[in-house]
Amino acid sequence: MIRPAELIERKRDGQALGDEDIRGLILGFARGDVPDYQLAALCMAVYFRGLSRAETYALTDAMIASGETIDLRSALGRKVVDKHSTGGVGDKTSIAVGPIVAACGVPFGKMSGRGLGHTGGTLDKLESIPGFRVELTTEEFIVQVREVGLAIVGQTAQLVPADKKLYALRDVTATVDNVSLIAASIMSKKIAAGADAIVLDVKVGDGAFMKSVGDARALAEAMLDLGRRAGRELVCLLTDMDQPLGYAVGNALEVREALDTIRGQGPPDFEELVIEASARLLALSDLPVDVDEGRRRAQAALADGSAVAAYERWIRAQGGDPDSAALPRAPVVAHVEAPCPGHVVRLAAIPVATAALELGAGRRTKDEPIDHAVGIVCRRKRGGAVETGDILAEVHARDEASARAAVERVLAAYELGDEPLNEQPLVLDVVC
Ligand code: URA
Repeated sequence: MIRPAELIERKRDGQALGDEDIRGLILGFARGDVPDYQLAALCMAVYFRGLSRAETYALTDAMIASGETIDLRSALGRKVVDKHSTGGVGDKTSIAVGPIVAACGVPFGKMSGRGLGHTGGTLDKLESIPGFRVELTTEEFIVQVREVGLAIVGQTAQLVPADKKLYALRDVTATVDNVSLIAASIMSKKIAAGADAIVLDVKVGDGAFMKSVGDARALAEAMLDLGRRAGRELVCLLTDMDQPLGYAVGNALEVREALDTIRGQGPPDFEELVIEASARLLALSDLPVDVDEGRRRAQAALADGSAVAAYERWIRAQGGDPDSAALPRAPVVAHVEAPCPGHVVRLAAIPVATAALELGAGRRTKDEPIDHAVGIVCRRKRGGAVETGDILAEVHARDEASARAAVERVLAAYELGDEPLNEQPLVLDVVC
């Protein structure tokens, strides 16, 4: 019999909690036997006192035990891979990586969440494809990974229900921002969803949760530790999120850009990340390849059309129309023009994301509808040279008034300077 008040007191005073204590608290909370206010107090104690690696794993394991788990290796008889990003602006990486990896013969199975606030969710992006179904049953998910080699679906309500409840509580008690709680939340869902090998992309910068490489590395190491304790193979990329990834921010615009990229016509920074993430997944897979060979195979899948063919098979399997002409288009397209000549020295991710959100591309509350057609295309990125009147970005809007407001916001995101920049790399570090 656990006594929540005693455990809260222990954590408040900086003492460690045992595995069984943590399990009892979390499963009791998931059942409704431990009230919200006690878990809220515990989260605040954790926020100030932290959790050890062992406690963080006990928390992760208890959250996994609150719901169903999927064993993709047993279901397919081979290794399945997955990728996860901690969330950034314009991050459509999975939509391009999944088809590349599948085209190389490696099964890719991903359960994904919806976007809230400034980072868009993969599911919202995929739902801009007419007919595309994100809500598959667990059985349908497994069958599709087996038969098509690729599925990206919404997380079922049975998967880690304790995290859903705990995240909602953390969100309103200022306790989201703790490395152990974030790592346990992300990894419980990844482990429960069943892939054996996972590439984690921790975004770093103004547009991300983690503002510094040091904080991102701490989160990466915590997640790698949890994954390994659960018997998974993982690699973590730390990647730049000081500016939007690629050009497009907004659901249908991002799907179109992901498709351009697997046709070999994507923005250079986005293509670099897509190839790197794909290569790392191939190297973790059951194919006998290292990262360099993985990179060659990923590039070949773009060049020979096999990634596009895998994309089309996948989208059709989930009921969607893979033709990019079927994606919705916004009725108004306005331009953001350079007010003077110079070099782009800054393109702040958050103001671009806010402009897209205000256009209707994202949601501020979890039940808000979104407009799949609208968004921003940042034609010029950091380091680019411009003349007065050059188009810095396009705003895709529902009407003229919202377009005008977004043009102002996006213009404010650009900073032009006299000198070209020393460009920083997209992949800042690899933790493995
Ligand atoms: N994403 C999650 O899934 N959980 C967190 O706690 C933070 C980001």
